[in-house]
Amino acid sequence: MKLVVANWKMNMDITSASDFVTKFNEFWFNDVEVVICPSMLHIPILHNYIRNSSVKIGAQDCSKFQDFGPKTGEVCAKMLIEFGVKYAILGHSERRNMGESDEDLILKTEAVLESGITPIICFGEQKDEYLSSSVEQIVSDKLGFLSKIKFKNKIIFAYEPIWSIGSGIIPDIHYIKSMINTAKDFINYDDSSFIYGGSVDINNAQSLLSISDGLLIGNASLNAERFYHIITEAQKNA
Ligand code: PGA
Repeated sequence: MKLVVANWKMNMDITSASDFVTKFNEFWFNDVEVVICPSMLHIPILHNYIRNSSVKIGAQDCSKFQDFGPKTGEVCAKMLIEFGVKYAILGHSERRNMGESDEDLILKTEAVLESGITPIICFGEQKDEYLSSSVEQIVSDKLGFLSKIKFKNKIIFAYEPIWSIGSGIIPDIHYIKSMINTAKDFINYDDSSFIYGGSVDINNAQSLLSISDGLLIGNASLNAERFYHIITEAQKNA
């Protein structure tokens, strides 16, 4: 079964998030695991109003601190669980750009695994690395720090070439396939899946699904019909 993940980033207000849910509730599907990751504030809208039980809620981040305590501004995994959150996107390049370190990402991964939330760990290269480095080099540069984590439970890896995000351009499909296969060998953990993110849309979804376990979708997930259209492509691959 394919996994289709929506990353709404900071692109929805109450009205657009509620309108999305109303529209999305008209669609029915199964044999696809659909995850919607709204902002922290909009998680309760999905928790309360999404009707299709195939739709799971994800967070776009999670605190590296596991326990309740004096950590102003943080939202920990135990709080996310209370609102039905089952997945958490971790280490997205936009957060790494804001200063998130490998150490932070290790702690966040351990925190969500501890709570039973499935991490969606993002990795990907900049354009200059894409042009100058081998696939093996990129994988060991970006994922090497994970050797410190003792994996337990399911882990999802999202290969997201940074230069592809929001650009409308994706790498050659053979390149993506070799990146995913190399990462799979490198991680070598049975309970892992590898999805692709970066400018996913209706026109490229089918070929991307043929070489991956699913998709991480930004812009094309903001409109309920467009997102549903991609889900139907994933259903064909069930
Ligand atoms: P995009 O974003 O689909 O708009 O390129 C993907 C992401 O950043 O997760």
